[in-house]
Amino acid sequence: MSRFEKQTVLVTGGAGGQGASHVRALHAEGADVVIADIDAERGAGLAAELGDGARFVRLDVSREESWAAAVAETEKAFGALTILVNNAGVQNPPALIESTDRATWTRILDINLTGTFLGIKAAAPALRRAGGGSIINIASTMGIGGTAFYAPYVASKWAVRGLTQTAALELGRDNIRVNAIHPGVVATPFITEPAAGSDAPIADFYSPEPFAVPRLGQPADITALLLFLTSPQAAFITGAEYVIDGGLLLGPALRKEAA
Ligand SMILES: NC(=O)c1ccc[n+]([C@@H]2O[C@H](COP(=O)([O-])OP(=O)(O)OC[C@H]3O[C@@H](n4cnc5c(N)ncnc54)[C@H](O)[C@@H]3O)[C@@H](O)[C@H]2O)c1
Repeated sequence: MSRFEKQTVLVTGGAGGQGASHVRALHAEGADVVIADIDAERGAGLAAELGDGARFVRLDVSREESWAAAVAETEKAFGALTILVNNAGVQNPPALIESTDRATWTRILDINLTGTFLGIKAAAPALRRAGGGSIINIASTMGIGGTAFYAPYVASKWAVRGLTQTAALELGRDNIRVNAIHPGVVATPFITEPAAGSDAPIADFYSPEPFAVPRLGQPADITALLLFLTSPQAAFITGAEYVIDGGLLLGPALRKEAA
């Protein structure tokens, strides 16, 4: 399949988890891919595994100068950038708001929100030079409602929604679409390993059993939606938000025996 032939895609946080799944699928469908991540070992390893049409670029999404270099390297390697996936994100260690220190708040907002802002800012001129393209911002179901103990993360993902809509309005006439994806709980190190500063991973406390689709999300679930949204089939979709959570936000499904 070559749905993404002649497309150049930059995926932040592309070295692992959902980002790596997006990278693999886009590359398999013909795109040139730039794996942009702070994890040089895994990122370079994935680029080497994929071979032609794949590059690793070290990027800390919270640093503006890092973004300028990543976009420049992408254009140098593959020509015009046509798709940006703002996927890199980090979780805060669980804590009440009153026990959350300012440094944690700032770190989470810097990466999840400011990183997405800087990505749009750096990529928009490149996408315009390409004649148009698409931006996907990965938010979260935690950006739809409140979640106790996760205030920095929740606030960062809510804000990404406003940024997505605003960017869609600003860039639409340049043929650049901007959409957001809200994954539920997805089986990646994000939930199977403790967040920096905490001892236990989210997976220790979470069970999908009560929900309509009683399983964890897999990176491939999210990738399937991302491929649709970045493809020409989605040409009329912008400023939109897609919840992909197996029914998590619907709340517990009643058991048949209870009917
Ligand atoms: N896994 C879930 O349950 C879940 C649910 C909803 C939303 N999300 C969101 O999905 C996105 C991907 O998460 P994941 O599950 O793949 O997590 P993950 O922890 O498996 O992967 C995150 C990747 O981002 C990279 N990264 C971290 N900080 C970075 C920085 N400053 N600059 C560049 N790269 C950085 C990491 O090295 C890693 O490769 C995140 O935005 C996350 O908030 C995840």
